[in-house]
Parts: sequence; C-alpha cells; structure tokens
Amino acid sequence: MPAKVYIIIYSLYHHIYTLAQEVQKGLVSAGVDAKIFQVPETLSDEILTKMHAPPKPDVPVITVADLSEADGFLFGIPTRFGTMPAQIKAFLDSTGGLWASGALAGKFAGTFFSTASQHGGQETTAFTTVTYFAHHGMIYVPLGFSNPHLFDNSEVIGGSPYGAGTVANGDGSRQVTNKEKEIAVTQGENFGKIISTYVKGKTAA
Ligand SMILES: Cc1cc2nc3c(=O)[nH]c(=O)nc-3n(C[C@H](O)[C@H](O)[C@H](O)COP(=O)(O)O)c2cc1C
Repeated sequence: MPAKVYIIIYSLYHHIYTLAQEVQKGLVSAGVDAKIFQVPETLSDEILTKMHAPPKPDVPVITVADLSEADGFLFGIPTRFGTMPAQIKAFLDSTGGLWASGALAGKFAGTFFSTASQHGGQETTAFTTVTYFAHHGMIYVPLGFSNPHLFDNSEVIGGSPYGAGTVANGDGSRQVTNKEKEIAVTQGENFGKIISTYVKGKTAA
C-alpha cells in the first residue's frame, strides 16, 4: 500500500491552492497517494463577499475523523499577522480527542505558506505550527535548502527551509511563479520519499 498524505489547506484567494497542486505533483512522483482537502470556513458569506473572495477551491472539506487515515499531512497556510489563520487554528484546536488517544503520534507533518509581502512572516508562521505537531507527537519535516531556487536572490522568491511559499502582494495580484512552483514540487517529492521509506519499513517489520 502506498503511503497516504493529506494536503490540508485554507486558501481565500487560491495562492495556497496553487502551491498545494504542485506539492501534490511532487508527492505523487514519489509514489504517494496524495489528496488535497480544505479546512472548514469560519467567516460568513457576507464577510467573504466584502473580502472579494472567489469561490472556494474545488476540494473536499476535511473532518477530524479523516486525519486518522493518513500517514502524514502537509498544511498549506496563508499567513495572518505572522501566524496561521483562525480557520486552520480552529481546525487544529478541534483535534483534542485525537491528542488524548495519541492517534496522530508518529505521523509526519510539514507546512507551506503564502504571505502578502516578502517579510510578512513565512518563517514565523512555520514556527507557530510546530507546537501543534510537538503536542501531538508528530514528526516535523522541514524542506531544508533542497531546491537551488532558495539560494536565488535575483528576484522575489517565496519559501524558506521550513517549506515552499509564495508572495501574493497585498491585493493578491502576484501569482505563484514557476520557481515557487518548482520549490513546492521539491517539498512534495522530499516529504513523499521520507514517508514512503517509513511506511515500507513499517509494513516489512
Ligand atoms: C486578516 C489578514 C491578515 C494578514 N496578515 C498578513 C501578514 O501578517 N503578513 C503578510 O505578509 N500577509 C498577510 N496577509 C495576506 C495573506 O497572507 C494573503 O492574502 C494570503 O497569503 C494569500 O493566500 P491565498 O490566496 O491562498 O488566500 C493577511 C491577510 C489578511 C486577510
């Protein structure tokens, strides 16, 4: 059985959704069964309209019960005030039952990001997810400098050793670039290789 990874996103203006599709390509190329989900929305339709939000990404809404099925998770997080949005926090805060039973202990986790600006907090967003993984006993997998575009200072390129990323601009007008997409594929591939090795080892034992 291939390893199973759920890519869990919140994406108001689809930058994270675009990155998630690239991460999924990388995971699939590593032989992983990879599905994209989104967390439940907490904002009203009225507020979403005022925020000029387009229709939601065409992916299922994750439930807490779904989490037990996967071997690992890659969370796609659009930064809010340097950390995760309330929608992702609300979902993670609803995993108390899984924490109590240790259901997520030993599963793998990683993160990728979108910010409006280059210095808007991609790395602080990463740090502030790690407490959840630590409390659940999950294994955090960073990206490292595994894609050469992370050394490229010739243009704006989102991402960091903590995960792939994009820089959306304050009005969302900047689209995910090819280099950012390639970094996202690398993250999926690397995460996929690690988790596949682990799942194969567990099956053989
Ligand atoms: C309430 C709010 C807070 C935000 N805080 C930040 C921030 O701290 N740093 C930043 O660079 N961008 C910030 N942004 C911009 C979002 O990160 C950006 O819209 C998002 O990454 C785009 O991803 P998406 O298209 O997947 O929704 C904020 C946006 C909102 C609505």
